[in-house]
Amino acid sequence: MRDFNEETITDAVVDRFDGTENPRLRQIMQALVRHAHAFVREVELTQEEWLAAIGFLTRTGHITDDKRQEFILLSDTLGISMLVDAINHRMPDGATETTVLGPFYVDNPPVQPADADISGGETGTPLYVTATVSAPDGTPLAGAQVDVWQSDEDGYYDVQKPGDDPNLRARFIADEDGRISFWSIVPKYYPIPADGPVGDMLEATGRHPYRPAHIHFMIAHEGYETLVTHLFMEGDPYLDSDAVFGVKQSLIVAPQAQTGPAPAAANKPQGSAWMRLDHRFGLKPTA
Ligand code: BEZ
Ligand code: FE
Repeated sequence: MRDFNEETITDAVVDRFDGTENPRLRQIMQALVRHAHAFVREVELTQEEWLAAIGFLTRTGHITDDKRQEFILLSDTLGISMLVDAINHRMPDGATETTVLGPFYVDNPPVQPADADISGGETGTPLYVTATVSAPDGTPLAGAQVDVWQSDEDGYYDVQKPGDDPNLRARFIADEDGRISFWSIVPKYYPIPADGPVGDMLEATGRHPYRPAHIHFMIAHEGYETLVTHLFMEGDPYLDSDAVFGVKQSLIVAPQAQTGPAPAAANKPQGSAWMRLDHRFGLKPTA
């Protein structure tokens, strides 16, 4: 067939994928073409705008390396990461809700014993965290592997700073009661990396780059789906406008100011006032 026009081109391209052997790949490619063409038609895209979009994606690729993932950031700021997450993690009662992984997870963080201080000397309000990991019915999951990571008080993760030392990240193995505990510092809100094309997009559209204060958790145990989530700090000014749409009410927690003697006091980060957070995570059994 020849002479494709505005009316006929979409079906022609969709049909060209008819021979795709893998049915799932065929479904994805044909739907992608239909939706992309519908988008171009809806906004009557100009050639300059299409070239600008290609330039944007080219810059997104060029700035991406093994330390910076601008494509994930783009997916996050367009809400695609959270939509994929929602579709793939429909949780039963008693299981903790999920949220974005984000670009700053590092596989195999250093394993730390119970009550370790993961703050690495960073300044901030000391925070003592205890968490239990259980099945939805409350059965403790001994041996659960709990990875934790967070930014420093200035909003930077260790991988964004010079040097290779892991900081404010660790792996804990839950004890026989499914419990872990550690010292850290109270996190603060921070901007996602905004000095690249995604930042340009946010600025051009009048959006701010901030994420409300949070601590990341990735929790794994055999027989259960790996849980990727955060705990967000109550009262944060960005809870209702997270740049990546990751906040869920059930993940908002309120660390309590403490006055009594600190647990594992030798490990407590510098600072007299300290806070405490106790939380229960529920994992969803694999089907
Ligand atoms: C984060 O929380 O680490 C994060 C998530 C999405 C985009 C940027 C950062
Ligand atoms: Fe984060």
